[in-house]
Formats: sequence, C-alpha cells, structure tokens
Amino acid sequence: MGINDASGRLDKKLEKAVNDFNSSIRFDGKLYREDIEGSIAHAKMLSKCGILEKSEADKIVRGLKSVLADIASGKTALPKDAEDIHMFVEEELVRRIGDSGKNLHVARSRNDQVALDTRLYLRGKTDEIVGAVKNLLREIAAVAADNTDTLMPAYTHLQKAQPVTFAHHLMAYAAMLMRDISRIKDCKKRMNISPLGSGAVAATTFETDRDEVARLLKFDGVTNNSIDGVSDRDFCIELASVIAILMMHLSRFSEEIILWCSSEFKYIELDDGYATSSSMMPQKKNPDIAELVRGKTGRTYGNLVALLTVMKGLPLAYNKDMQEDKEAVFDSVETVLQCLNIFAPMLKTATVNKEKMRAATLSGGYMNATDCADYLTKKGMPFRDAYTLTGAVVKYCVKAQIKDIADLSLSELKVFSPLFENDVYDALDAAISVALRKCAGGPSPESVEKEIATLKAFIGKS
Ligand code: ARG
Repeated sequence: MGINDASGRLDKKLEKAVNDFNSSIRFDGKLYREDIEGSIAHAKMLSKCGILEKSEADKIVRGLKSVLADIASGKTALPKDAEDIHMFVEEELVRRIGDSGKNLHVARSRNDQVALDTRLYLRGKTDEIVGAVKNLLREIAAVAADNTDTLMPAYTHLQKAQPVTFAHHLMAYAAMLMRDISRIKDCKKRMNISPLGSGAVAATTFETDRDEVARLLKFDGVTNNSIDGVSDRDFCIELASVIAILMMHLSRFSEEIILWCSSEFKYIELDDGYATSSSMMPQKKNPDIAELVRGKTGRTYGNLVALLTVMKGLPLAYNKDMQEDKEAVFDSVETVLQCLNIFAPMLKTATVNKEKMRAATLSGGYMNATDCADYLTKKGMPFRDAYTLTGAVVKYCVKAQIKDIADLSLSELKVFSPLFENDVYDALDAAISVALRKCAGGPSPESVEKEIATLKAFIGKS
C-alpha cells in the first residue's frame, strides 16, 4: 500500500530528495494523538451509519488504540521518511490488522483529516495557554496585594508623570492578560468546529453523520461548507495573532523589568536563579530571561506574518502550501508557553525595592504639579489658569533649584496666588494624592484592592 510507491497512479517511487522535501512528519508527528483520536471517531461513525461492519470497525478501533499506546510509550518510533503522520498511522494500522485497516479512510481525505487534527491539537493548547496565563495572573495578584501602598512614579514619555503605586502599575499588566484570556477563549469558539466530512473538497457520497463525529470529539458543531472546511486556516491565524498580542504584553513587561533592574532604577532585583552573569565583567547580573522573552516576541510576529502570507494567494481549496501552517503556529504555541511558564516564577522570586520606588516618587520630577493645579481649581480658579500658574511655579522652582513645589513656603506660594493656604501641603503629598484617586480604576489602595478582587474572581471562574 502507499500513495507514492508506484503502485497507483504514478509510475515511479518518489526520489529521496523529493520525499524529504515533501515529508512533514518531523513537525506533524506531534499530531499523532489527535490523528488517532480523530480516526477512532471516524471509524465509530462509519460503523454507526452502517458503512463499515461493526466487527471491522471494532478491529480498526482496537488497532488504532494499540498504535496510539505504542507511539506514546516510545515503542513505535515515527519513521523520518514517512510522508506525514496521517499516512504513517494508516500504514501502521494496516500492518497490524491487515485488510480491515484499508477501510479506515472511507469517506475521508487527508485534507479534512489534517484540518481536524490541527483544530483538535490547537484546541488543547488554547486551554494550556489559558492555564499558564492564569498562573502568571496569580503571581501578579500576589505581588500587587503586597504593594498597594508602595509609592511609585507613573511615567508618560518615560518621564516622571504622577505618583501611583507599584500594585497599580502591575495591575495594568493584569488587565492586558485578562483580555488575552478572553481573546484566546473567543478564538477557541471558532476553532472548535469539526471539518471532518468535508472530504477532499466536495464531501462524500457515503451517507455519513458528521454530527456524530463532532459529538464524539466534543466539537461544538460542524463546518458549513466542504470547500471552506478544507481550505480554512483562520483558526491558526487567529491563534497566532492572539499569541502575538499576548507576547507583545509580555515584551512590554520584560522591557520594564529590564529597566527596573538597572542601577539607575533599582526598583526590583531578580532572584539569582533568574539572572545571568557576564563571561568577562565579573560584576554583572543580567536580566537575560526578560530579554529573551522580549526577543522571542519577534518570532511570534514572524509566524503570524508567515501564516498570513502563505494563505493570501491560495485558490480554493486545499493546496500543499498549507502544510507550512504547522511549523509557524506550533512555534508560536511553544514559544508563548515557554515564556509564560518562566515569567511567572521570575516575577514571584523577584525582590521589590519598595524604598527605591518611594524615594523616586518623592525626589524630583515635580510629579505633584497636577495636584497643585487641581488644588487651585478646587479653590475656584479655572483649570487652564491654574495649569498655567502651576507651570510658572515649576519654572520658578527649576530656576531656583528647588526640588519640590512643597519645599516652597506659604508666603512664596502666595506670591503666585492668594488662593494658596496651609492645606496645599496635604494636596501636594504623594501618598495623600494617591489615596484620593479612588474612582474605579484609580491608583488608591482602596481602588486597587477592588481591582485585585475582580482579578481573583476572574481567575476563579474563567
Ligand atoms: N501533510 C499534509 C498537510 O500538512 C496533509 C494533507 C495532505 N493532503 C494532500 N492532498 N496532499 O497539509
């Protein structure tokens, strides 16, 4: 048996170099479990519909289970020269059970089979990715809970902007990752539809029951059009795209960790188990792990663009170009899982240098200038005037080398406006200012505690 062994349409066996070029088993071998589970469901359906004798289908199912067990245990190795996992499993089945195995492929093509296997495989991976994101979210929640009153500068344009807390800053990443989970789940909904029964392109003349296969494999339904069923790879592209966005979030987080580890910031220190040294400079402690996460983000963008480009010019329906889908999307899946799984313990074991963050918040940068303008506005001055006046106060401080508006005496402040009273010093206090920002989504300890509670509820139910 074989489709490329000169026994059928073709006169010659494939040239070795051609077979090497054509073969995909080195990367689709990882679909063996899904391929066999899909085949078992297909055989059961064929029997239920009376297309296969029950005894023959049972024999096929037993044979497939033995192939699965032996590949899983390593007893049966996947041969490097097999065309792909689908052909290998079928050939191995026939080798084990004889002619009955030759009926497994009734009413099926590798075109709907590979679409089915890939959906099944990626469906499982979406659950794994959600689990890994949740682990990271748990660590973020824990570190945030410890730092709801750790003052930290918020930056815009990487310039000190306004005082917030480390918890508030971290929870911004939690918000991104929560959206990532919702995107992955949304993508899974469209992925979890069975294409089996689409055949090569035009379905089949056998009276099959596609819903039965979908039910056995826990799909939510069947695809609507046989041409689309075999030519659609949106589910790969969507997942690669969701992963690219998730990696972009991890990359921004990594960038900040790298920055915070520098001696200029020193906001955090990574555990020695998550840092590396230099081969030449003995003093170095480098945040390589965060840098690698940032770097690997690039390859996930590459995978997304590769998938989009492979698909963009393809006429309907299946074309062999589509075999190129797997390496790209599998690489994105593996990369994001690796990154998530290392990021969570890296964050958990890092030391937060609360004093450094506090000192950076309190020293320089005039981060309470907005509070000063707000103070004057609350006293009756129109905001734009208060803004301009505060700008003049800051300019005065810069010229006189006074580091903080609060270092000016009341009489000095009164030169700018008679509205300044003694209570201005409270308004200018970073901790008080943060505590007053207690609207939903604000940095006050009270607001952030609510945000953490929402996150914990989200982790529990999603
Ligand atoms: N290895 C192929 C792939 O990954 C399986 C489908 C082959 N179908 C075909 N008509 N040659 O796309």
